[in-house]
Amino acid sequence: MARIVVVGSINMDLVTTVKRRPEPGETVSGEKFSLVPGGKGSNQAIAARRAGGEVGFVGAVGDDVFADELRRVLVDAGVGVSRLRRAHGPSGVAAIIVDDGGENSIIVVGGANSRLTTLDEDDLEAIAQADVLLCQLEIPLPTVLQAARHARAHDTTVILNPSPVRELPEQVWAEIDIAVVNEGEAAQLGAALDAVPHVITTLGADGAIYRGPDGITLPQPGVRVEVVDTTGAGDTFTGALAAHWPDGPEIALAWACTAGALATTKLGASASIPTRNAIERLLSR
Ligand code: RIB
Repeated sequence: MARIVVVGSINMDLVTTVKRRPEPGETVSGEKFSLVPGGKGSNQAIAARRAGGEVGFVGAVGDDVFADELRRVLVDAGVGVSRLRRAHGPSGVAAIIVDDGGENSIIVVGGANSRLTTLDEDDLEAIAQADVLLCQLEIPLPTVLQAARHARAHDTTVILNPSPVRELPEQVWAEIDIAVVNEGEAAQLGAALDAVPHVITTLGADGAIYRGPDGITLPQPGVRVEVVDTTGAGDTFTGALAAHWPDGPEIALAWACTAGALATTKLGASASIPTRNAIERLLSR
């Protein structure tokens, strides 16, 4: 079982479903509203756990009404929360609109995630003991860099999902073993990704493509499913990939594409992350 530490965000998602997303200045009637725990870090941790990894989460919730529920969803999934702190003030939240086609628009307010500004000795020890460190960009960049540097120094594989995408200093890319990006992120990051030994680009319904250090590419076809909501599908892909990375890129990609596809068949980020059994059933078809 791969040991994975996720250093990342945890949000309460405020999800509204609508027939079509409003234009600027327009008001439309929504159909349904739900509160669903999310955040890229938390989603990826749960996905890695459900895909078979042993997972610990380093992050922060606030001291508001959402904090206990955000913690509970990790605990229920079997993710270790001994490094989850409670910061003063609000937890992270994401306002999400999902349209009839399953496409979404998301606004994230960092809250407690923004206050995860440094890692302590116990966090660093957990990273040193892990096989894989998994990070995203919803927490302060210096924390991501601190985690990645420490991982590298202790032979822990570093996976970065650079989302929400932004330009990163070269020193960050130098610490990354594997980048997981979607097509838009790949286009925006361009040549910066050349510095990363392994790059996986997700292609939505068309699957994903892997590029290794030798330049060799490996396409992974998409899995056809009925799409309800794409929120968290990339996170599920990335978590499953991390859990199976030690089995080699081919196997990891198959798990990631299958898990990611299944995640689009239900509404809500953490609510749609498939179990190991569900992934295995679809993989063996
Ligand atoms: O990737 C989906 C996630 O992005 C949502 O759960 C939301 O919280 C935002 O972080």
